[in-house]
Amino acid sequence: RKGRTSEEVVRRYLQKVRNPPEEDCTICMESLCGPSGYKGPGVGGISRAESVGRLSQCGHQYHLQCLVAMYNNGNKDGSLQCPTCKTIYGVKTGNQPPGKMEYHVIPHSLPGHPDCKTIRIIYNIPPGIQGPEHPNPGKPFTARGFPRHCYLPDSEKGRLVLKLLLVAWDRRLIFSVGTSSTTGETDTVIWNEVHHKTEFGSNLTGHGYPDSGHLDNVLKELRAQGITEEECLRD
Ligand code: APR
Ligand code: ZN
Repeated sequence: RKGRTSEEVVRRYLQKVRNPPEEDCTICMESLCGPSGYKGPGVGGISRAESVGRLSQCGHQYHLQCLVAMYNNGNKDGSLQCPTCKTIYGVKTGNQPPGKMEYHVIPHSLPGHPDCKTIRIIYNIPPGIQGPEHPNPGKPFTARGFPRHCYLPDSEKGRLVLKLLLVAWDRRLIFSVGTSSTTGETDTVIWNEVHHKTEFGSNLTGHGYPDSGHLDNVLKELRAQGITEEECLRD
């Protein structure tokens, strides 16, 4: 996978389209029947600027050049996500900085889960310097509120969520570097798209229990990152 060019990665997920529809490419807003409106760096290798591809699973169509530009704009991990329906091709990874994830069972019940104990997850990420995959490469990032403690019921579904969170951690999808919507601080470690419960016995922040929909929500959010039970069995 290492030596592949961006165009080769993108082409793996595409089928040829001989007669493009009379529609606009939703990446560049230009007609699929004409050339890509995207003229950015790193897309010069494509000779036929007008060529169009259909993503193999979801069927959405774009200029090849537009998809390559989108891929180059991301973290170039060999995966591609359809910008229309979010279908993921390949294995999506994130830009979570290095750190540690630990968990253990504590002998107390969460509000709303009286019949089981509790899983406590502890995330620890130290501050550091941003890499090429971050918004401001070379600049430091801060890390506030670590170690962050999170709670799941130690039920069958809770343990499934834990298993999938471990996969999300390995794929660097739990945290990101950016601007905190809570504090407004820039260049800092922030939660990514998967919600966590950080309060144990109370619910003062809205990130506590009881919340009967929480586990199903998290499973949905993990699915949106390409992490499902079925997929993990294949790992
Ligand atoms: N606990 C859990 N999730 C939270 C919390 C919290 N206290 N605060 C915000 N979130 C969720 C938000 O709902 C949003 O979906 O994290 C997502 C990103 O929010 P940001 O404010 O950008 O994230 P971050 O700065 O990492 O979190 C702020 O979370 O765990 C605490 O110590 C942390 O006080 C900090 C707070
Ligand atoms: Zn386009």
